[in-house]
Amino acid sequence: MSRSAHPAGPRHADVLTDGHYSAPPADLNALDPKVWAHTVGRDADGAVTVGGIPVTRLAEEYGTPAYILDETDFRERARAWRTAFGADADVFYAGKAFLSRAVVRWLDEEGLNLDVCSGGELATALSAGMPAERIAFHGNNKSPEEIERAVAAGVGRIVLDSFQEIVRVAHTAEALGKRQRVQIRITVGVEAHTHEFIATAHEDQKFGIPLAGGQAAEAVRRALRLDGIELIGIHSHIGSQIFDMSGFEVAAHRVVGLLKDVRDEHGVELPEIDLGGGLGIAYTSDDDPREPHEIAKALTEIVTRECESARLRTPRISVEPGRAIVGPTAFTLYEVGTVKPLDGLRTYVSVDGGMSDNIRTALYDAEYSVALVSRTSDAEPMLARVVGKHCESGDIVVKDAFLPGDLAPGDLIAVPATGAYCRSMASNYNHVLRPPVVAVRDGEARVIVRRETEEDLLRLDVG
Ligand code: LLP
Repeated sequence: MSRSAHPAGPRHADVLTDGHYSAPPADLNALDPKVWAHTVGRDADGAVTVGGIPVTRLAEEYGTPAYILDETDFRERARAWRTAFGADADVFYAGKAFLSRAVVRWLDEEGLNLDVCSGGELATALSAGMPAERIAFHGNNKSPEEIERAVAAGVGRIVLDSFQEIVRVAHTAEALGKRQRVQIRITVGVEAHTHEFIATAHEDQKFGIPLAGGQAAEAVRRALRLDGIELIGIHSHIGSQIFDMSGFEVAAHRVVGLLKDVRDEHGVELPEIDLGGGLGIAYTSDDDPREPHEIAKALTEIVTRECESARLRTPRISVEPGRAIVGPTAFTLYEVGTVKPLDGLRTYVSVDGGMSDNIRTALYDAEYSVALVSRTSDAEPMLARVVGKHCESGDIVVKDAFLPGDLAPGDLIAVPATGAYCRSMASNYNHVLRPPVVAVRDGEARVIVRRETEEDLLRLDVG
């Protein structure tokens, strides 16, 4: 949504929550390809289609709300990352963004590796047949059982996050008669330009071992002394929804600085560095994300330059995009239940889901766009707020959006760019059932995660 001072002065109807004024887009029926999945379009009747299937048919067959995932788009984005980084680098898809067995198989087929951060994600990856050596295991408090399972399975790397964990992983591996490949996650003091709760490389936070005060160098010292682990590199993840590459530049500079110190002190050149994930996507037309090939070029150049000036061999680079691969590939399909105009303010549009299928608006103040997808409309735009069905006034899906003024109960609306961190952070609040994920490809749809049922809920409630 474009933001500007309103030329004619304040008018209630288009005062957005943040005090800006906004003009409605020229054509409410247009679907900005920046925020919608690749195969999205409209058919002759005006219904939005994905992979050649109208959303009206998807709603009929699978119900609403539902996450509709464009498999073709997912594979294209995964492949674009893989191709951009080439054979001398590794792309680990961050499973926390969205993980299911179908997704694991697509990643495997497209040649990507996988980053998991819990026993549950590891189990999903292994059960879908992802080769263990292509899995990286993360987390700031891995349980002894998780560590043992990861080592026993033979994961390609465990990313160590604390001094205690260095010892725990080394001992577990030794007990299993193995030598586990590990990286050490450090914090480099970079705060990415993003929402405070999801920025993770500044020092005052739970992840990683601070570079400051020599703690990271001490972690390397200890790791190099232990037989059960083989230190292969340093890991840094600086935040989320980042557009500006300068944060990565500072991070790479500092990581390479540590590699140089390690070489000078121990005579060891660590062969790998991981720069994490965090690359931004377009949630609204205002966002301008970079293409994978631009990101790959920028990161490779930064690391190569830093290593040349430190006289180090350029290490193998890996990255961990989650949102940038899956985020744009899915939208959430809702049915409108009620339309409530509040005079001089805005119109509240209630849908059949809400904060249980998308907590990001309530939690991070995230911005989304929305469109009427079951038909087109020439009605005047109205300033709307899309809200859910939960017993909480903060249950907002899209805070400020223009929708056609003739929107009515029974219409289908869709919120694009919900592929990342929506299903994976979904809850059962109010015992609302979590929606299915329906994958669409070349005119065919199939459920890859089914809708939760009341039986599912009651099965956990053992009385
Ligand atoms: N690698 C590491 C070590 C991470 O901690 C994360 C995200 C990623 C990779 C993937 O980041 P991505 O490329 O998806 O931004 N729930 C929040 C995001 C939390 C991200 C946590 N770590 C949200 O909905 O925005």
